Amino acid sequence: MSFASRVKIVEVGPRDGLQNEPETIATKDKVAFVNLLSEAGLPHIEVTSFVSPRWIPQLADGSEVFEFITKRTDTEYSALVPNTYGLERALDAGVKRIAIFTAASETFNQHNINASIDESLERFVPVMDRAKAEGVWVRGYVSTSFGCPYDGDVPAENVIRVARALDALGVDEVSLGDTHGAAVPSQIPEVIGGVLEHLPVSKIAVHFHDTHGRALANVYSALQLGIQIVDTSAGGLGGCPYAPGASGNLATEDLVVMLNRMNIETGVDLKKLMKASRYMEQILGRRLPSRHLLADACGISKIR
Ligand code: HMG
Ligand code: MG
Repeated sequence: MSFASRVKIVEVGPRDGLQNEPETIATKDKVAFVNLLSEAGLPHIEVTSFVSPRWIPQLADGSEVFEFITKRTDTEYSALVPNTYGLERALDAGVKRIAIFTAASETFNQHNINASIDESLERFVPVMDRAKAEGVWVRGYVSTSFGCPYDGDVPAENVIRVARALDALGVDEVSLGDTHGAAVPSQIPEVIGGVLEHLPVSKIAVHFHDTHGRALANVYSALQLGIQIVDTSAGGLGGCPYAPGASGNLATEDLVVMLNRMNIETGVDLKKLMKASRYMEQILGRRLPSRHLLADACGISKIR
């Protein structure tokens, strides 16, 4: 077992979290949220997406959000892009880091991006060509890496095939998504270990949703394999509109608290992070599901 001494947290709350909120959130509130997150020291923030506003109306203001956020030099800002049209919109908004996304199961991919897995990989060829010509950094997501809300079990070889295909397309990082929180820690060695036979550990991120409360256990299992990049959302915001019943990502606070106790560095200021989550709680008018936020609100948390 060899844990990394530092873990990079990729904060996906403004995109994965807010894409699933039923109410419209004002652009200025999204901008303020991203700024609070960067002030908290999150090294990478997935700010928004440039997908069809008919599919995801909540993020239709991606260009404005990207334009108005404060761009700190020590923070990486990215956006989700499904096709060349989305990439052009992102480039116009000044985006320098994008994430393309496909899945390891056919039915989810069809629901999510209206394409088979192979069609989506073909769609990414011109996206990658243009992105690389513009010097844009690219992440590739493999959704349903640990199970599919429609197809059920997903064989590890499907995940490995898609991860390798994204790698062959030239992505800089691959994030393995547990889209509806199906993963269990005992699966991690087979799926992530299998991908690690083909890609270096420095290129692999993990992205667990916390539907069944297992996300932190799954991260721990991934850390045991040397994983150094973990996706989370502040407060545990979110879900996926095409994975019915899925809840938000692992809460950033809950990961930071665990890593702090394990003496693994993140560079994140927990108090400032909680300020960002509390801000979103005010905007949404409800408590967010992070265990640490809840423990803190009850006055029972002395853990930092
Ligand atoms: P489609 O309907 O097959 O596409 O959608 P189309 O090319 O036929 O275009 C249809 C309309 O959308 C046209 O407009 C296009 O111009 C427009 P119309 O002529 O009808 O007025 N359009 C766009 N508009 C703005 N920006 C664009 C764009 N592209 C087309 N980029 C498409 C295909 C991929 C576009 C659609 O299915 C889509 O946008 N899907 C996005 C779904 C999504 O965002 N899902 C959530 C993110 S994924 C996720 O959460 C999982 C993740 O977190 C990891 C995990 O947890 O596993 C990443
Ligand atoms: Mg997700």
